[in-house]
Amino acid sequence: MSVEEQYVDSLYEADSELERVKEGIASNGMPSISVADGYGRLLTMLVRLAKANKLLEIGALGGYSGICLARGLNEGGSLVSLELLPAYAEVAKKHMVEAGLGDKVDYLIGDAKESLAKLKEEGRKFDFFFIDADKEGYPVYLEYAIELAEPGAIIVGDNILLRGRTTDEAKQGPAVKAVRSFNEKIATDERLESTILPGYDGLAIARVKG
Ligand SMILES: C[S@@+](CC[C@H](N)C(=O)[O-])C[C@H]1O[C@@H](n2cnc3c(N)ncnc32)[C@H](O)[C@@H]1O
Repeated sequence: MSVEEQYVDSLYEADSELERVKEGIASNGMPSISVADGYGRLLTMLVRLAKANKLLEIGALGGYSGICLARGLNEGGSLVSLELLPAYAEVAKKHMVEAGLGDKVDYLIGDAKESLAKLKEEGRKFDFFFIDADKEGYPVYLEYAIELAEPGAIIVGDNILLRGRTTDEAKQGPAVKAVRSFNEKIATDERLESTILPGYDGLAIARVKG
């Protein structure tokens, strides 16, 4: 983390609920790859500002971002969270319940591409998306998000800098290429207006026009 990121984080009191989630993630042997604290706070704010009430998250891990997203919901709002691994979804659900948000979330287990195809088939629509699963899937996830979006929906994608790999021309692996293509689409797709924040590991934020 940069000195500036550390400074900004130091201004905020520790969030005991989210700290417990991080401990739970570690004690279950899961990787510590939850969204950065500062972007977690931004997710809550964005959901609240957009008055979003039908959220879709791609990549649950231990529920850290799920809590941040659900905290921004009004009464009656809900979160659908897609997670490949049943054991991870179980930990995420436990953390959501402990945070008093268990009734707001539904987990769909399995490859997100299959879950997204099913949601599309069912005609489901969402007004906020958080893309944070396997990086190779990002371009497909973005296209699904646009297709499942209500007009004005917000799409957020995390880790778009891949800890320096995105901007390193020597890196040409499938995940890097996929994220570059995701970033280009975020910046140029005519269906979107967007910005990309380069802090932490990079965050893309787009609004579906309409
Ligand atoms: C970076 S972590 C998510 C972190 C979480 N959003 C947070 O900030 O708390 C990525 C998650 O995506 C899941 N994942 C990886 N490939 C996936 C796939 N094809 N479909 C659904 N989930 C996937 C992983 O199991 C992992 O839990």
